[in-house]
Amino acid sequence: MSKVKKLLEDRNLPPLLGGVKTKDAFEKRQEKIRKLLADRQFGQIPAKPDHMFVEVKSVYDRFACGKAESKKLEFTCEYGDKRFSFPAVSIIPKNKKKCPAFVYIDFEGSDANKYMPSEEIVERGYTLFTFCYKDVTSDDGDFKKGIARYLTGSRRRNNAPGKIALWAWTAMRLMDHIETLGDIIDLDNVAVIGHSRLGKTALLTGGYDTRFKYVISNDSGCCGAAIERGKIGERYGRISEVFPYWFCTAFNRDARAGIDMPFDQHFLLSLSVPRYVIIGSAEEDLWADPESEFLGAASLEDAYRLYGMRGLVHNDEVPRPRCVLDEGEAVYYVRSGNHYLSRHDWNTYMDIIDKKREK
Ligand code: GCU
Repeated sequence: MSKVKKLLEDRNLPPLLGGVKTKDAFEKRQEKIRKLLADRQFGQIPAKPDHMFVEVKSVYDRFACGKAESKKLEFTCEYGDKRFSFPAVSIIPKNKKKCPAFVYIDFEGSDANKYMPSEEIVERGYTLFTFCYKDVTSDDGDFKKGIARYLTGSRRRNNAPGKIALWAWTAMRLMDHIETLGDIIDLDNVAVIGHSRLGKTALLTGGYDTRFKYVISNDSGCCGAAIERGKIGERYGRISEVFPYWFCTAFNRDARAGIDMPFDQHFLLSLSVPRYVIIGSAEEDLWADPESEFLGAASLEDAYRLYGMRGLVHNDEVPRPRCVLDEGEAVYYVRSGNHYLSRHDWNTYMDIIDKKREK
């Protein structure tokens, strides 16, 4: 048996395919997995609003030496007679047609910051749609204020959405807006990307919203791309104590009790198959655990095979930096350094997408 297969076998994972042998049957299985993770890990992502409109609040047309236009947007969502708004930003290169796009789930919400080198991104011909996660709902246990009050309700029942599900819902609203911009955006090449807790959010978004062709998780670790069984660093038990509001209450109850979950993180990753799942790690980020993130990417092989695809193409060893395994539909990348979303990471992700788009 190959080395990586053995490493995966030692993790004792719940079987991903559950006996299915065709892609049609796998698609039905994906629906079951979506329901399982909504009930037992993240809570249900709220439905699309009845109506949504987007207002341009201001335009700055000198961005990146005048090569791009940065816009402050306000999204307003309506469910029946309830109505609420959140801000977002778009940065669109000028005079370009059919640009690929990123929905970047951001910690800040500015038009450029340490994790979001917008100038480099637009110079490479990509558009950027972004929002600050805390502008939607606070990163704490308060479900009474803002959007959480409308979308979760102040009483958190078993599978009511946790905060990650609410941030994923927001990223989907940005995609709704992008769909109205088909003349300037290449709708077949839209990526969702996030770092760390927002990398977990990107995986949830892409897993439940198939409009995203590339699902990119940077250093997402526990409850993100890292296989839980046998993981080092952060584990379900601890994350459910420290950040219970990210998840549904059923997850916290089970994780604290240490019960053997009917899923592992390959279930979440498999929801983006046969699209591109791109997993980035940092060598020193042992809290997230690069080896378990690599195994997350490798665990999808059987699912991709149902589509006649290869999944992750690797050399049968745990990769060391700097390594980009981007021959297949699952991509794994590890760089040196610590937990961060760097320019180097963005450039690597854009190199990968450029390569895939050429095919
Ligand atoms: C904490 C948490 C991680 C999370 C990270 C982040 O370290 O334990 O699960 O990914 O914060 O979002 O920065």
